[in-house]
Amino acid sequence: MRTNTLLTLARALIDEKVIIMSERVTPRRRGSYGIDAPLAPVFMAAMTGVELVMAIISGRWQRFVPVTFMLAVLGLYLHHTLRGKFVVWARLIDELRLRGDERILDLGCGRGAVLLMAAQRLTTGRAVGVDLWRNFDQSGNSLEATRRNATAEGVADRVELHTGDMTALPFEDNAFDVVVSSSAVHNISGRAGREKAISEAVRVLRPGGRLMIADIRATRQHAAQLVELGMSAVARRRLGWQPWWVVTATKPENRN
Ligand SMILES: C[S@@+](CC[C@H](N)C(=O)[O-])C[C@H]1O[C@@H](n2cnc3c(N)ncnc32)[C@H](O)[C@@H]1O
Repeated sequence: MRTNTLLTLARALIDEKVIIMSERVTPRRRGSYGIDAPLAPVFMAAMTGVELVMAIISGRWQRFVPVTFMLAVLGLYLHHTLRGKFVVWARLIDELRLRGDERILDLGCGRGAVLLMAAQRLTTGRAVGVDLWRNFDQSGNSLEATRRNATAEGVADRVELHTGDMTALPFEDNAFDVVVSSSAVHNISGRAGREKAISEAVRVLRPGGRLMIADIRATRQHAAQLVELGMSAVARRRLGWQPWWVVTATKPENRN
């Protein structure tokens, strides 16, 4: 790895450490949010175990280098899904400067990590979550689990949950002030499906409404598509040291 890359990584890690230590940005979570793509860490742990046994049998210290690396990757993955994404989203929701009366839609809300944090910023507004509740994408995923979390976080009165596909949203045009999504669009297989999800997000957003999508891949394509769809202020940036980007955009006032 080049020195520049190492320096960038170190700076980003320090940034995140400062954010975690400041703690003010992350309200304490009372719900239970599961693990994203639960088979991924199981696979990583199994591979690490195999490598560890091989290293012990070989008796060569060099064999412990990949074991250490794999343990670090596993640790970072678990940190991201159990803690990091909450820290990052607390900051992203701050950026939205919500008034409290908005209708917010979370595409692929899962057990409500982002949906319920957004709901906590609302007074008269509504946080609406739509999902297919796939356990493959998040452990223990179900509408009931998300409802229980809404109660645990004290926002059940402001939360609506719908079973639906984000490529064919069960909502009218211009129905939301804000549309968010976290690590969900990449779960749609095929570029055409992901493009459908992005155009659906734009369709249900009211003129002047804002879009914020964080994901691990295809975000460059989302940004290009949003420009093609006539969205304004389209921007894409990396989130900390993690392989994660956020795309933001606004629907022009004169667009339906
Ligand atoms: C990795 S989970 C992330 C959940 C949540 N956004 C979070 O950050 O905790 C991805 C979610 O997308 C949902 N999902 C996948 N494909 C979907 C689709 N076509 N329509 C609606 N939800 C979908 C899954 O059921 C899962 O809840």
